[in-house]
Amino acid sequence: MYKSFVVLALAAPFAVFAAPINKRQTPSLAATVLKFADVLNQFEAQFYQAAMSKFVDSDYTDAGFVSSRIPLEQFTIIQNDETLHSSFLQSGLAALGESPVTSCKFNLDAATKDVATMTATARVVENLAVSAILGAAPLVGDPVILQAAASILTVEAKHQSMLNVLSSTGSSIPSAFDIPLAPSEVLAIAAPFFDGPCDLGIPAFPTLTITNDGPVTPGTKLTLKSDAINGTICEDELFCQMLLGGFPNSITVPFNNCVVPAGLNGPMAIWVTSDEQPLLFNSVDRQTNNNKLVAGPTMTFVDTQPQTLVQMLRAENAGTVTSKVITGGEASSGSGSGTNSTSSVNNGVTDGGVPVLTTGFSADGKINVLGWNVTDPQGQ
Ligand SMILES: *[C@@H]1O[C@H](CO)[C@@H](O)[C@H](O)[C@H]1NC(C)=O
Ligand SMILES: *[C@@H]1O[C@H](CO)[C@@H](O)[C@H](O)[C@H]1NC(C)=O
Ligand SMILES: *[C@@H]1O[C@H](CO)[C@@H](O)[C@H](O)[C@H]1NC(C)=O
Repeated sequence: MYKSFVVLALAAPFAVFAAPINKRQTPSLAATVLKFADVLNQFEAQFYQAAMSKFVDSDYTDAGFVSSRIPLEQFTIIQNDETLHSSFLQSGLAALGESPVTSCKFNLDAATKDVATMTATARVVENLAVSAILGAAPLVGDPVILQAAASILTVEAKHQSMLNVLSSTGSSIPSAFDIPLAPSEVLAIAAPFFDGPCDLGIPAFPTLTITNDGPVTPGTKLTLKSDAINGTICEDELFCQMLLGGFPNSITVPFNNCVVPAGLNGPMAIWVTSDEQPLLFNSVDRQTNNNKLVAGPTMTFVDTQPQTLVQMLRAENAGTVTSKVITGGEASSGSGSGTNSTSSVNNGVTDGGVPVLTTGFSADGKINVLGWNVTDPQGQ
């Protein structure tokens, strides 16, 4: 079953790319964009693979997950998607008579240091993947390639939401709009993940890093670092540019007082410029008119709207996580009178409580429920 699914999925890209593209002029910019997208997908696939090989169940529960099954189910699907995306893009390159870039090596040690670091990094990576395809879209002239890229974009957006949830601090869908990032901007963020040279034929803007510890919230004064901000530049004359999804342009504040304003939520890209002119939402403009750019972007998240969905996955929010055995009938009726219950159990939200996670039927017809510490409304 699984195998035939993979074969079908791999056959599809050839069908998508084969006929129309061979008849077209070879668009070298489109090939560059496909190579770039392929390398990002190679990185994502290897990153999830490295994380899943490294962590054991207790690493996930130590990091606060109610159960390792929650992240592992999602990471397995996402890793498979990224592998298929890479095959898909490589078949597109083959149809253009181009070879993929397979020589890039990735530095995954720091990003997979522990589960918390990994999920936080994965959230950046998935948001970056969405921003990268959005930013590359205007550069792809061929509608067939554009549609193929869009079919990856919609799936990266699902991954993005999942990682917004799994990384534990954000909201699942924080904004009605995502931020497009031009290829040189994506490479500024991705550069620290490359182990050695990775020549994609696209220059990277200088990497910018946030040196603050802890969450970024309204009022946080960001401290920013880049090799491009050095003795040759007067910091007093620089500007910090913050851009969020749906904003027509960046919020500009002095570099030395880069305070996050109130009223923001979601992913935020930050640049440093030598000019107080705001940067436009339009990434084509930023890629082209970059003479005032000093460094960046870097990406962070302003998390001001905590969500129940996110909190549900965390053991600390469930109080004591308990496990009890109830019959299948009890589970479906929601009566929860079980063997020794102080909990009411159903398959939805209990009165004053949160959903339970069924872990399947046992041999004696009872199901094991990984539950939450909720009070029985019957007063038990
Ligand atoms: C210092 O910054 C300038 C311009 O931002 C850059 O051209 C130069 O390479 C930087 N020097 C070092 C040592 O990184
Ligand atoms: C869990 O429920 C029990 C019984 O109602 C209660 O004594 C205990 O304090 C609860 N624990 C938490 C962390 O809420
Ligand atoms: C409920 O029963 C299980 C299995 O018999 C036992 O391990 C657990 O301690 C009991 N819990 C309570 C709250 O009595």
